[in-house]
Amino acid sequence: MKQCKITVFVKDLSIRLRKEVRAGSLHVTTTVVICLSMVSFVVILTVFINNNVKKYLVSEDHSYFPQLAAFTPLSSWSPYPYFPCNSSLSPPSLQQLQFPITSLRDWLAPKELRHSMNDKELLWRASMVPHIDEYPYNHTPKVAFMFLTRGRLPLAPLWEMFFKGHEGLYSIYLHKSLEITDEAPESSAFYKRWIPSKPAEWGRATMIDAERRLLANALLDFSNERFVLLSETCIPVFNFSTIYNYLMNSNQSFLGSFDDPRHMGRGRYNKRMWPTVTLSDWRKGSQWFEVLRKLAIEMVSDVKYYPVFRDHCRPPCYMDEHYFPTLVTKIFPELNSNRSITWVDWSRGGSHPTRFVRKDVSEAFLNQIRNGFNCTYNGSITTVCFLFARKFHPSTLDPLLRIAPGLLGFHS
Ligand SMILES: *[C@@H]1O[C@H](CO)[C@@H](O)[C@H](O)[C@H]1NC(C)=O
Ligand SMILES: *[C@@H]1O[C@H](CO)[C@@H](O)[C@H](O)[C@H]1NC(C)=O
Ligand SMILES: *[C@@H]1O[C@H](CO)[C@@H](O)[C@H](O)[C@H]1NC(C)=O
Ligand SMILES: *[C@@H]1O[C@H](CO)[C@@H](O)[C@H](O)[C@H]1NC(C)=O
Ligand SMILES: *[C@@H]1O[C@H](CO)[C@@H](O)[C@H](O)[C@H]1NC(C)=O
Ligand SMILES: *[C@@H]1O[C@H](CO)[C@@H](O)[C@H](O)[C@H]1NC(C)=O
Repeated sequence: MKQCKITVFVKDLSIRLRKEVRAGSLHVTTTVVICLSMVSFVVILTVFINNNVKKYLVSEDHSYFPQLAAFTPLSSWSPYPYFPCNSSLSPPSLQQLQFPITSLRDWLAPKELRHSMNDKELLWRASMVPHIDEYPYNHTPKVAFMFLTRGRLPLAPLWEMFFKGHEGLYSIYLHKSLEITDEAPESSAFYKRWIPSKPAEWGRATMIDAERRLLANALLDFSNERFVLLSETCIPVFNFSTIYNYLMNSNQSFLGSFDDPRHMGRGRYNKRMWPTVTLSDWRKGSQWFEVLRKLAIEMVSDVKYYPVFRDHCRPPCYMDEHYFPTLVTKIFPELNSNRSITWVDWSRGGSHPTRFVRKDVSEAFLNQIRNGFNCTYNGSITTVCFLFARKFHPSTLDPLLRIAPGLLGFHS
């Protein structure tokens, strides 16, 4: 590593310089300063020549990629800016660093979910929108299933059954807690679907950051048109094709949003949010949303309301129950049905919804969720109001796997 030696040499010189100054020898100092300037000049010249030679070599090898030069760091000291000298990792090859753009496909979706963008870079990248409506390629819309998980995904076998046979119509994204390091088997729908994650605290801004991180990663794939946020306790209550068609044929999003006059609603409004957010703007809703692409882009692009919520929505105000419901009502009320498609049971009271265990699961129970309600869909009344349900304990997996093939029409 030549760059390292140069750094060490410069460090060495500066230490010597400091010693000289302490010794009070002005003459020696001047000499050293001159020497140092000359060394710097030589070093810069070397790097410059080095880069030019590399550019020359590179363009000889791949002269059919004129974009290459733009991706080569021209004036940087090191061609491997993200790999410090002491790193035990070996630097990537030049080939990997230059990302040659060979076809439109390379722009449409990242090949790998792993990336080195920080949140700010990621959100900016995800906020980009094409200005030509018509696709120049065969565009098959997909549903992005975004799992915001606290630990593992105990109901994964049910989801595997749900996804099976529908490849190409969905994408999966997992936001994991950091202690989970194991990978799903290669045959799994969840294989290599983790996104770069950070710790998220319930009710805090870090939870919204995690949701926006999921949305932004999913937005990088231009085929994703609907975005569902799910937790590890969620289950699907219809088969894939029913859910896919329900979402794709709707011109609205399903993000719960209502005005709750009680203290656990309007009572959480903080006057300091005024005038950006007023009390009449204030909304509440479930964290588990489903949105269409246009709304997802707004949700990752918001720089106006997010700081106000981050600074002034602190417990007992829970950001995940108020930020998106208020934001969406404020910017695109006509694109939202204001109802969630994830069923949950609050009927037993308290501050947490009912958690279902093995003995609760039956066909009758699932049918009640599937058809036991009335709501508006695309302008008309329907009994299919919920496509997903929570909160299901890991012990429900066995009965669910037993019921699913018949009732939900899953492939097994
Ligand atoms: C490399 O050096 C940086 C800064 O000097 C230090 O923070 C880091 O821990 C070092 N890494 C290794 C792998 O030694
Ligand atoms: C819902 O409305 C959209 C646009 O108005 C239409 O394209 C779609 O077919 C409708 N879906 C259903 C299920 O009626
Ligand atoms: C959702 O709520 C907003 C704001 O209250 C309203 O403008 C919009 O019409 C509602 N949407 C539906 C489908 O009722
Ligand atoms: C839904 O609407 C039907 C027909 O209007 C009615 O018979 C039924 O009781 C309603 N169900 C609920 C849960 O409100
Ligand atoms: C959605 O579709 C319904 C039924 O076709 C229509 O009445 C409604 O205006 C549409 N809404 C939007 C926002 O396009
Ligand atoms: C999915 O369920 C619907 C009805 O709920 C059924 O008509 C359809 O055949 C099922 N699809 C598959 C692939 O099993």
